[in-house]
Amino acid sequence: MSDHRPAPTTLSAWQTLAKLSQSLPRVDELIVDPSRNTALRLSAAGVNADLSRQRISAAILAELLDLAKQSGFADNRRSLLAGEIVNTTERRPALHTELRAPATAGLPGIREQVQSTLHRVRAFTQQIREGVWRGCTGRAVQTVVFIGIGGSHLGPELAVRAIGNDGRLSIRFVANIDGSTLTEALRGADPETTLFITASKSFSTLETLENSRSARSWFLERTNQSAGLAKHFVAISANVPAARDFGIDPENVFPMWDWVGGRYSLWSAVGLPVALASGYDTFESLLAGAHAMDQHFATAEPHRNLPLLLALASIWNTNFLGAGSHAMLCYDDRLSLLPDYLQQLEMESNGKRVSSSGQPVEVHTMPILWGGTGTAGQHAYHQLLHQGTRAFSADFVFSAASPTELDHHHRWLLSHAIAQGQAMMQGDRHTTSEKQVPGDHPTSTLVLEQLDAFHLGSLLALFEHKVFCQGSVWGINPFDQWGVELGKRLANPVFEQLSGAPSNQQDASTQYLIHQIRTVGRNTL
Ligand code: F6P
Repeated sequence: MSDHRPAPTTLSAWQTLAKLSQSLPRVDELIVDPSRNTALRLSAAGVNADLSRQRISAAILAELLDLAKQSGFADNRRSLLAGEIVNTTERRPALHTELRAPATAGLPGIREQVQSTLHRVRAFTQQIREGVWRGCTGRAVQTVVFIGIGGSHLGPELAVRAIGNDGRLSIRFVANIDGSTLTEALRGADPETTLFITASKSFSTLETLENSRSARSWFLERTNQSAGLAKHFVAISANVPAARDFGIDPENVFPMWDWVGGRYSLWSAVGLPVALASGYDTFESLLAGAHAMDQHFATAEPHRNLPLLLALASIWNTNFLGAGSHAMLCYDDRLSLLPDYLQQLEMESNGKRVSSSGQPVEVHTMPILWGGTGTAGQHAYHQLLHQGTRAFSADFVFSAASPTELDHHHRWLLSHAIAQGQAMMQGDRHTTSEKQVPGDHPTSTLVLEQLDAFHLGSLLALFEHKVFCQGSVWGINPFDQWGVELGKRLANPVFEQLSGAPSNQQDASTQYLIHQIRTVGRNTL
């Protein structure tokens, strides 16, 4: 993939799209064209997508596909999947697709590392779930506390919540440095039957290290068994020396690799909680679903390529229709963490203002992504969606199959999902002004055949590839995240100052806030 990709605005397709956006029919006018609707509906790896509620005509679709072509989609996709350097600032490939490739496929050299790690994950899962792995007093593990943040947390917690836990183990997640998170996770846990898993690619993330240190103190204070640490603390990391310095036996460190970005790492040993919650076969199904979507992404023609079409719809909405936010509306409580997961995946990947070649992008990139679960959201923020003043786009996601025997609940749930998309499309313009709903908002609907490990894997891989396709058109690198570093650096002196060091070199607001906390905090102790 070239570092010197053309600026999107210089492409003729971009300029044509700008003209087409000037005189655009409403969605409810566009949707009467059956052939256009067919072109905007497709199925891939168990995800059935309807993009016919997008404000995209047949001519616009053709031009968007030309935009992808002109920005080098085919070559960029080939570079990604071949393991070329696509993370240009860090000079790395981005090989998350290799993590879910079957044992008989995959890139030589990478494949062996992946397979040997999967064997270890399988063996470890069996030992824990079957009670073969024993703690420092010979008792089997009952509670797993998984410590990690960002890409080393959101995927596994989302997946365990979505796919479920068969109840053999209690699995708790600790991400935030807020002391109440760890305290809550340890409530009622017995140190003799608790296993801690620290997941950190760098093994240098402040929140994860502080939480792990406090967990280690909690364990040692209660068991007085430093020799027992090896039976109660394991890690997933690319930094084995740092894990060893922390006190974790290198034998108990599952690898991560530089060629997998943190937010793309659910498919590595980071997905261990999925296997622990419901067995290794479930984790394998998750990988199989993602691989099925990879196959689709790799082989489908651009006009039938679902990740590409989702990306192009997003570019159309963001850059030509002025949508500044994208709502992820999940009509399934099991997907309640999907908006959080996608905030990291999409906003950390594509929230960029500089192209891969270091030039200003000059167009908007990733919009603000937010969302929640329906129908609860309908009684909160949908008012703004229907009658507010801001342009937005939205994705509806739900499962066709009901997760419970309360089938009529599911029919009600999906009725609302479908009707909300309908309301956003057609609006209601034939009533008094205060009741009018303009409609004409672009939405896509993603229907999973059912919500299980396979379909979750497929859905998440779909979004990963969508992010790549967006980055490909915008000419940005989705695989770095330099923007998060400044805040981390600035927190260090503030911590020193909250702990007593002088703060008079800080700006006026920072000094005031530190003073407040030092005085008010002390008074309330
Ligand atoms: O927020 C920045 C970030 O680097 C993410 O990209 C990453 O997933 C997270 O921190 C955690 O990093 P690590 O796995 O190294 O602890």
